[in-house]
Amino acid sequence: MNDVKEVLGFYSSDIIQVIIDELSDINPKDLQDASIYLTKAGGKMLRPCLSLISSEAVGGKKEDAFHVGAAIELIHTFSLIHDDIMDNDDMRRGMPSVHKVWDDEMAILAGDTLFSKAFKLIGCSAKNGATPLQISKTLDTISDACIKICEGQALDISFEGRYDVSEEEYLEMIFKKTGALICAATKSGAIMGGADEDIIDIMYDYGRLIGLAFQIQDDYLDLVSDEESLGKPIGSDIVKGKMTLIVVNALEKANDEDRETLLKILKEPNSSDDDVDIAIEIFNKYGAIEYAHNIAQNNVDEAKQLLEILPDSSSKATLELIADFVLERHS
Ligand code: IPE
Ligand code: IPE
Ligand code: MG
Ligand code: MG
Ligand code: MG
Repeated sequence: MNDVKEVLGFYSSDIIQVIIDELSDINPKDLQDASIYLTKAGGKMLRPCLSLISSEAVGGKKEDAFHVGAAIELIHTFSLIHDDIMDNDDMRRGMPSVHKVWDDEMAILAGDTLFSKAFKLIGCSAKNGATPLQISKTLDTISDACIKICEGQALDISFEGRYDVSEEEYLEMIFKKTGALICAATKSGAIMGGADEDIIDIMYDYGRLIGLAFQIQDDYLDLVSDEESLGKPIGSDIVKGKMTLIVVNALEKANDEDRETLLKILKEPNSSDDDVDIAIEIFNKYGAIEYAHNIAQNNVDEAKQLLEILPDSSSKATLELIADFVLERHS
C-alpha cells in the first residue's frame, strides 16, 4: 500500500508543478486562487500517474504522457469542484470545498477554467514530440470522457428518489461518471507511449475495470470511513439518497420491513449518524457490502489479467499494484 502511495508521489511531483505554472496567468486573482486551490490541497493523483505509467508500460517514456496526465488531473479537479456544488458537500481533500471558500459562481468558473486549460495542455504534448495523429486521438479520447462524465453525473442525479434502479443502470452510471476518465487516462497514456491499436484497447479496458472498482470502493468508503482519513464528508450518499451498488443490492434482497426502513432513511434529507448505522446493519444483514466488494474484486482481477499481454516491466508491475490499491485504499 505504502508502495503505491510512494509511486504516485514519484510520478506526480512534476505534474503538480506543470499544473500550478499553467494556472498562474489566470486573472482576476480570485479566480486564479479558486482554480489552483484543490491542486494545492493535494489529491492522490491517481489518474495522471496512470497516464504516465501506461505510457511506460507500452514502451514509451513517462514524459510522453506528461501534458496529457496534467490535463486529465485538471479535468478531474474540475469535476470535483462542480460535483461538490451538485452534492452540496462542504469538504474536499481535507479542506472546505471551493464553493464554500468562495461561492457557487466562482466555483463554476474555476471548474470551467480548469476544463479549458486541460485542452490547451493537450496541445502542448507536441513539445514532447507527440505527432498530430497522437494529439488528435487523445483529444477524441478525452473529450469523449468529458461528455461521459456529464452523462454519468446527470444519471446519478436522476437516480435520486428512484428506488428501482437496476444493477445494470448503476454500472452504466458509474462507468460514465468515474470510469470514463480513468480509462481515458490509461488509453491516452498508451496512445502517447506509441502503442498499437490492440494494446491501446487493452489499456482502455484495464482502466474501465479498475475505474468501476474505484467508484464501488468510493461508495463503500462513504459509508464506513471517517472524515479525517477521507478528507470529504462521510454518509453523504445516504443523506442524499444516492443509488449505490450496496443500496441497489440491499433494496433487491430486503424483506418488506427492512426495505421500508431503508427507504425511509434514504428519503430523509436529514439522516443522522444513527440512521446511517441502521442502514449499514441492513446492508450487512443481506450481504450487500460483500456483494458489491466481490463485483469490484472481480473487475480488479480481470483488469490484472488483461495486463498479461504486456512485456514484463516495472511499470506493468506497478499497474498490477494500482489495480489492487483501488480496493485496498482507505482514502
Ligand atoms: C474522487 O476521486 C471522485 C471520484 C471519482 C470518486 P479521488 O478519490 O481520486 O479524489 P482525489 O483526487 O484523490 O482527491
Ligand atoms: C463523483 O462521484 C464523480 C465525479 C466527480 C465526476 P461522487 O460524488 O461519489 O464523488 P465524491 O465521493 O464526492 O468524491
Ligand atoms: Mg460527490
Ligand atoms: Mg456526486
Ligand atoms: Mg463518493
